Amino acid sequence: MLQQYQEAIENSNIVSKTDVNGIITFVNDEFCKISGYSKEELLGKNHNIVRHPDVPASKFKLLWQTIKAKKIYKSTVKNRAKNGSTFYVNTTVIPILNEKGEIEEFIAIRYDVTQEIFYKHSLEKKERELEVLNIDLEKRVEAKTKELKELNETLEMRVQEEIKKNEEKQKVMFWQSRFASLGEMLANIAHQWRQPLTELNLTLFSLKKAAFNQDIGEVEMLYDESKALIKNMSNTIEDFSNFFKPDKGKQHFMLRESIEEALHILKRVLKKDMIQVKTSYEDVSVLGITNEFTQVIINLLKNSRDAFVENGVLIREIKIEVSKENGNALIIVEDNAGGIKEKERYKIFEPYFTTKHTSQGTGLGLFMSKMICEKGFNGSLDVSSKKGTTRFTIKIPLESENEK
Ligand SMILES: Nc1ncnc2c1ncn2[C@@H]1O[C@H](COP(=O)(O)OP(=O)(O)OP(=O)(O)O)[C@@H](O)[C@H]1O
Ligand SMILES: [Mg+2]
Repeated sequence: MLQQYQEAIENSNIVSKTDVNGIITFVNDEFCKISGYSKEELLGKNHNIVRHPDVPASKFKLLWQTIKAKKIYKSTVKNRAKNGSTFYVNTTVIPILNEKGEIEEFIAIRYDVTQEIFYKHSLEKKERELEVLNIDLEKRVEAKTKELKELNETLEMRVQEEIKKNEEKQKVMFWQSRFASLGEMLANIAHQWRQPLTELNLTLFSLKKAAFNQDIGEVEMLYDESKALIKNMSNTIEDFSNFFKPDKGKQHFMLRESIEEALHILKRVLKKDMIQVKTSYEDVSVLGITNEFTQVIINLLKNSRDAFVENGVLIREIKIEVSKENGNALIIVEDNAGGIKEKERYKIFEPYFTTKHTSQGTGLGLFMSKMICEKGFNGSLDVSSKKGTTRFTIKIPLESENEK
């Protein structure tokens, strides 16, 4: 039976025996196989032949203390084979006692756990890597969160900056368009002065002649005539300068007056190009800057005039209507100058959109007009066009006092 037990153990385990000093007295085939040494090489050698240099001395001290105390020692041990490779064995060392109770020898029974230990190590390594990755990930999330937070904080500031920049740009465009009008006005004045200047010249020449002839009556008549001409010329300047006076801020004004001012300024142009303007007014007053509203009407009239000329329309008519509707002042400016193509209708309010030659238009007129209606008057400016006609509609909300 004992023999059979021994065989069973030897076949399934790595078995060795040493004397009390640790000198090998027996090894089975399994021991030779795993260590790479032959029986001859092992027998008579100290058991530390398979000792791995990594294993600390303290471990062996504990082993010897345990077995010398006649106790069983159990542990997983790292060993080195003959070819230098590492193997791990689960080890049980049992002291064998004689009948006097003294230690006779030690039997060590082991089994190979190299594979398991390797798996365990690689698992541990992976775990460590994962941990590092996790920490790294946490750090990266933190950094991104911080970045986002900062972005969020500066975003509002940047939006404000952009808004400010935009507002400044619009202010510049506003003045650009006013100055464009100014240039045109000056050309108007110069033109309007040409005729009375010639007349004045002639009158002065006649005056000199009358003075020479001592014809007092004639001198006086010619003098009055000259004065009238000069007054007329001075009035022309007066007409235009009003439009360029510094804005006094928002005031209530009658739409009719503001529109008549525009018609007055463009009187000569409209007459020259044979454009008839039909007006119908309800008495409506609104709150805002009258010069700005005049400018809107001038822009619309000039556009109509340009379209009449461009399209060579024969019977030229512009209708201007002022009325009240649902708490709004409604101003309609309509011409029969040919209409606007559908695909252009969406673009005409964009800054710098023009179909005219650069010397003829900057494309700011309608953009400015819309700005004035929306920002200056809290209202709107829209266009519609059909059958050769174009209709611009301005809506301005009435103050409660105007709704009566
Ligand atoms: N009454 C109209 N009839 C036909 N086309 C029009 C009319 N009003 C405007 N348009 C079109 O809209 C475009 C834009 O008009 P807008 O007044 O903004 O600029 P512009 O007249 O070209 O130049 P600017 O007014 O700056 O001198 C014009 O070029 C023209 O093609
Ligand atoms: Mg224009």
